[in-house]
Amino acid sequence: MHTINIEGGKTLRGEIVVSGAKNSVVGLIPAAVLCDEDVNIYNVPQLSDVDNLIEILEYLNVQVESKEDYIRINPTSMTNKVIHNELSKKLRASYYFMGALLGRYGHVEISFPGGCVIGARPIDLHLKGFKALGATVTEDGDNMIIEAEELVGTNIYLDFASVGATINLMLAAVKAKGKTIIENAAKEPEIVNIATFLNNMGARISGAGTNRIKIEGVDYLHSCFHEVIPDRIEAGTFVVLGAAVSDGLKVCNLIPEHIYSLTEKLREMGVPMEIGPDYVFVKKPEKYNPVDVQTLIYPGFATDLQQVLASLMTKANGTSTIDETIWENRFQNLYELAKMGARIKVEGERAYIYGPTKLVGTTVMATDLRAGAALVVAGLMAEGKTEIQNADYVLRGYEKIVEKLSNIGASIELI
Ligand code: EPZ
Repeated sequence: MHTINIEGGKTLRGEIVVSGAKNSVVGLIPAAVLCDEDVNIYNVPQLSDVDNLIEILEYLNVQVESKEDYIRINPTSMTNKVIHNELSKKLRASYYFMGALLGRYGHVEISFPGGCVIGARPIDLHLKGFKALGATVTEDGDNMIIEAEELVGTNIYLDFASVGATINLMLAAVKAKGKTIIENAAKEPEIVNIATFLNNMGARISGAGTNRIKIEGVDYLHSCFHEVIPDRIEAGTFVVLGAAVSDGLKVCNLIPEHIYSLTEKLREMGVPMEIGPDYVFVKKPEKYNPVDVQTLIYPGFATDLQQVLASLMTKANGTSTIDETIWENRFQNLYELAKMGARIKVEGERAYIYGPTKLVGTTVMATDLRAGAALVVAGLMAEGKTEIQNADYVLRGYEKIVEKLSNIGASIELI
């Protein structure tokens, strides 16, 4: 386990470049096994989640070549094998092999996925969708066998607009017979990126990015080139950081529309920003207004950014609130923040952050990926030394985080 040590209180400035989106690439890599030729993906971030997916590909005898931000995946000599616990537990996104292998072979055996402990994280909607397409699901302890003689397109209504279920069902339906319609589909940009990837291979998907996705099954998917979109959560994290401790930070290579709900909140807080076509220039204001945030599905305020914003809320002149409506266990960071001097109260799904308070460095624990990122922001804001234990969580979602932050003046090291 790694630790991140930060000497806080420094003013940051300069340019920081956003990497490819973790939550997109973790769908793109499993999606690649649906291809009947090879695929080439660019702007791939170097993250432990990506390494773990490559490990699964190699276990399945898929040929993988990677160099810096490029990866070539050739699944033509692939073998469909049981994906055991040790492989699937390393990350949540291992469950995209369900849809992908089911789509390719009509058969998949896989253990339940792992991932950050931010809620119960059921997969009932994924399984319900597979069944609607004609598959049977047999659960045997921790293992699941999902199989179908033939997958046949149908109408699937998702009770909740789940990101994972939408992607998994697109993967399963791409080669199914006939037309599948996913109603109440999730609209996150990562879904559009994955649908575009499949369409680049010859799939016939329309409506990605709306709540109704149509998929006409095809028999063959050909070679393609594709680019991962910029990571909107990494981008949002850096913009919040700039708002907290910078006298001028240009966050480059982002799609401003993807973080609109965040930048609007920051404006409400009084943060000065210039929003360009692919960047946000941000600096700290004289004083911060308190704000109320409710997490929602896209394009609402992203749950993945509320923990990071909570660190900034400690600076506001008054009480800010967060209503977390997606995950039931996503306030663990606040207890760590309290150790640094924040005044907080958690009542069920609502958190109150009473500002302004001065944060002081101490030893804290990253309990999940975004909690870890929120503590990095808090550590850079705080006076003195912060030691973030369990920092491997942060490395799952932020490429070269220490290098990127050091380059803009942070005193930060990974031990
Ligand atoms: C994705 O998780 C992201 N992960 C999460 O980011 C993100 O927080 C989440 O979407 C919401 O935006 C990846 O893309 C790998 P969901 P996912 O299915 O797909 C319930 C991060 O920090 N639900 O949209 O697992 C579920 O319990 C991570 O980068 C069911 O009830 O999220 C939750 O309350 C953490 N049954 C809600 O839906 C199901 O079958 C949203 O889940 C599926 C989901």
